[in-house]
Amino acid sequence: MQIEEHVALAPLTTLRIGGPARFFCRATTEGDLLGAVCFARERGLPVFVMGGGSNLLVADEGFSGLVLQVAIAGAPIVDGLLPVGGLDGESTARRFVTYDVPAGFDWDAFVLLTCQARLTGVECLAGIPGMVGGSPVQNVGAYGQEVSQTISAVRVLNLQTLSFETLQADACGFAYRRSIFNASERGRYAVCRVFFRFEVDAKPQLTYADLKRYFGECTNPSPLEIYEAVRLTREGKGMLIDPGNLTSDMRSAGSFFKNPVVSAARLLSLAEALAMDAGTIPNWPAPSGEVKLPAAWLIERAGFAKGFAQGSAGISSRHTLALTNRSGDASCADLLRLRDTITAEVARRFGIALEQEPVYLSPAYDLSPAHDLLSAHNRS
Ligand code: EPU
Repeated sequence: MQIEEHVALAPLTTLRIGGPARFFCRATTEGDLLGAVCFARERGLPVFVMGGGSNLLVADEGFSGLVLQVAIAGAPIVDGLLPVGGLDGESTARRFVTYDVPAGFDWDAFVLLTCQARLTGVECLAGIPGMVGGSPVQNVGAYGQEVSQTISAVRVLNLQTLSFETLQADACGFAYRRSIFNASERGRYAVCRVFFRFEVDAKPQLTYADLKRYFGECTNPSPLEIYEAVRLTREGKGMLIDPGNLTSDMRSAGSFFKNPVVSAARLLSLAEALAMDAGTIPNWPAPSGEVKLPAAWLIERAGFAKGFAQGSAGISSRHTLALTNRSGDASCADLLRLRDTITAEVARRFGIALEQEPVYLSPAYDLSPAHDLLSAHNRS
């Protein structure tokens, strides 16, 4: 186990922003992970657990505790075609394949592996940067799929008890861009391995308009064809990050805001503010009769076009939801200023509070459970 001091965090994030970590450890084994947590405990240091750095905004001041990058190494372990219900002769026709994947495995490489095995379940999540360990934390989702639909369990290190535990999917509190790992139990667990389950007989579902358009007449593409289509679609939106060749649109953390879930009453007041018919405002149904609005659409209606620049920070020229480090030398303060300009204008015009999606690591990083004040406001 190697603990380094004064390590620059910016190069470890896709935004390329932020100051140093006082202590840093890249843990490639569970033993290293435990050792690093003990190191922090002995010194009374706060611990921040990071994955691939693709959903992370680091403050210019950095972090004075230990930043622990969980990059458990190794190849996925696949176990295939077991009869449901075990091997007791009670098998049914349904069959499934399981994958046990170390947290440090590249997410997109894992997706490709499953698509090559002709399995459906994560093909729409192609091209998302980061590592497998980060996927349950914010329940990554795109093009009609969420990773929680395929995760069966998550192996974690409990940072309070220092024990390794396996949490079944229903204990992970999965919802839109949310899990216990980034909400009620934030700061308590480090994800070490993720277990996936794929039904062998499942057929790919094309639910997202962009993909339906791409495939046109072809209604039964293979998982591998969908993998390629999603990567091309993401590329068109500047959301396919090539770490070796970061263009200004790629220096982002993907979507900077969540798509807000609002009450039906708020949709009506939005229609009024825009002098539009409520039926023409793009939205998707959300649980309990509420609706989800595209944050990118709201931002544009509030007066911010693609490519909008504010100093060194800006809005991607290809997708309004991605805030970028345009010049490559933007500070965190620059990005936060842009964020505040946008959220203030959207709130002023439409009364809707936009919630930041990437994790914000600052010296005051609060390891206590996150509160939900913004989303409660939109739902009222
Ligand atoms: N739109 C605009 N301007 C834009 C882009 C989109 O007005 O520049 C509006 C359009 O009305 C469009 C709608 O927003 O129909 C939806 O756009 P898009 O399909 O690109 O998806 P999104 O809602 O902006 C979400 C996820 C993405 C995911 C895509 C595709 C969130 C916060 N973001 O974005 O996830 O890739 O759907 O499924 O839910 C991420 O989380 O980092 C991320 C990239």
